[in-house]
Amino acid sequence: CGIVAYVGQREACPIILKGLKRLEYRGYDSAGVALLSEGELKVFKKKGKVADLEAFIGDRNTSSHIGIGHTRWATHGEPNDANAHPHYSSSKKIAIIHNGIIENYASLKKHLINKGYEFHSDTDSEVFVNLIEDIRENSKVSLPEAVRLALHEVVGAYAIVVISHDSPTQLVAARKGSPLVIGVGKGEYFLASDATPIIEYTNEVVYLNDFEIAVIKDGVLDIRTKEDVVQTPYIQTLEMELESIEKGGYPHFMLKEIFEQPRSILDSMRGRLVAENTQLTMSSIREYATRFKNADRIIIVACGTSWHAGLVAEYMIEEFARIPVEVEYASEFRYRNPVIREGDIVVAISQSGETADTLAALELAKSKGALIFGVCNVVGSSIARATDAGAYTHAGPEIGVASTKAFTAQVTVLSLIAMMLAEMRGTMETSALRQMMMEMEQIPAKVEKALQLDKEIQAISEIFKDATNFIYLGRGFNFPVALEGALKLKEISYIHAEGYPAAEMKHGPIALIDENMPVVVIATKDSSYEKIVSNVQEVRARKGRVIAIVTEGDTVIPQMAEFVIEVPAAHEALMPLISVIPLQLLSYHIAVMRGCNVDQPRNLAKSVTVE
Ligand code: G6P
Repeated sequence: CGIVAYVGQREACPIILKGLKRLEYRGYDSAGVALLSEGELKVFKKKGKVADLEAFIGDRNTSSHIGIGHTRWATHGEPNDANAHPHYSSSKKIAIIHNGIIENYASLKKHLINKGYEFHSDTDSEVFVNLIEDIRENSKVSLPEAVRLALHEVVGAYAIVVISHDSPTQLVAARKGSPLVIGVGKGEYFLASDATPIIEYTNEVVYLNDFEIAVIKDGVLDIRTKEDVVQTPYIQTLEMELESIEKGGYPHFMLKEIFEQPRSILDSMRGRLVAENTQLTMSSIREYATRFKNADRIIIVACGTSWHAGLVAEYMIEEFARIPVEVEYASEFRYRNPVIREGDIVVAISQSGETADTLAALELAKSKGALIFGVCNVVGSSIARATDAGAYTHAGPEIGVASTKAFTAQVTVLSLIAMMLAEMRGTMETSALRQMMMEMEQIPAKVEKALQLDKEIQAISEIFKDATNFIYLGRGFNFPVALEGALKLKEISYIHAEGYPAAEMKHGPIALIDENMPVVVIATKDSSYEKIVSNVQEVRARKGRVIAIVTEGDTVIPQMAEFVIEVPAAHEALMPLISVIPLQLLSYHIAVMRGCNVDQPRNLAKSVTVE
């Protein structure tokens, strides 16, 4: 979910609606605002997108200088008008927006119902706001104090903002586990789940920490802990540019982000790699050189696309640095009593830096003494702050829900880490290392070339846009790419797609192959090329329709495959950075042709802060 709030001299409603649009990638099944004017709290909320809310508001009077807004990704209760935020308290004197989950909401709700409170939604958030009201009324305390006391009773994760009908200049916010950023303007404040709704007004921000409560009243910001200890706000200056969060002439963010990859890959290695003198600079790894050198094992935890980047890293780190690597779904890892030892290094990969399962997995590992390293894209995010050390991917803000440039930026940073570990452990000859680094430097230009395949891929998309199933096959370094290609297609076009290691196909998926089955084979020239040629033949023998991604100049596969897409050659370990490009474009075009909302696919959210 995404939350926005404003207090200052300007009209609050337009600022909040614009902010919600910027946050829509975090959830978009319903939206709402609460505004306060002349002692009355008005709530407008609607199932659907922020645009539906805007249409619903129409020309009603929204005049107000303070307000809160929310765009939702349903957890408790289906997406409908009643479950949309903000939620009123029973008396309609207080309103709340909430991102996160209150785990003990059922017992709190029962308690409040017994006291006569009425509920109009199925949400845990409505329980939260009534709890605050109950405490305020019974203990006759101020709103901030009531919020503080309520936080002692709720179990779970939250970022909340609360307003009250009798305090026209006051916002009360708190966080635990869900992000909250405060933008500090001139006599005005902006609160949001991330900085994107804020940066067009100010680049001075404060990241609220877990268990902190922020009270803005009469233009003054006061931050305290849950235990009421006053904190000094640490104001940071953000470097984000407004253009980076706008579409810049592209029809969709996803397409813009796909085309940004030569740049984002370069940005992710800038200053970290100079092949000419075999120089790798990653201070965060140097700082823990002894731990990395002597690591018994590296455990990578991640979800979704970031997990796929982790698989590529597994192959690279084992190959270059000879450290055993395990790649885990964060959600499985954290719940199964995993074996973690002090000699282990746990690497969390996350674009948003907010994925709840990934955060919890690394906290578990930290408690068992492992060194925790983060590879995140969002500066100041929860995961970035929870780690001992880390290396940011410099992909810039990724808005499209289906991850593209964040994936290639992750693979880039992880390749550099693999090389650096190889150098530190002496597991690679200097000449081989330099060769690898030179290859790395050439990647942005090769990605640029792969992007020129766009028209060709559009034509292939036209042919396959009505397919109901797809299989993606790859081996070695291209196996994770097959998984990623299938994930991209199913996420945004809703075509069922399965990624598989090419050789495993004969143990199951081969049964699905007939003349209607498109099979995308990533068959670039590498150490398993001969083997994958046989796999292509196996598919052809069952009349499957092969779309092959091959290395430029390949003469063998074009004789077998129905369609071939030629990409520039590169070292096999770096091939995922190139071979994934046509797969991103294929899923993008198919989704557009099917009339799908590619930037905001149904049921998905960009930042999954629930477990
Ligand atoms: C969601 C997104 C995916 C993303 C995954 C992990 O499912 O839709 O695109 O790969 O979360 O997110 P993270 O921010 O941790 O990389």
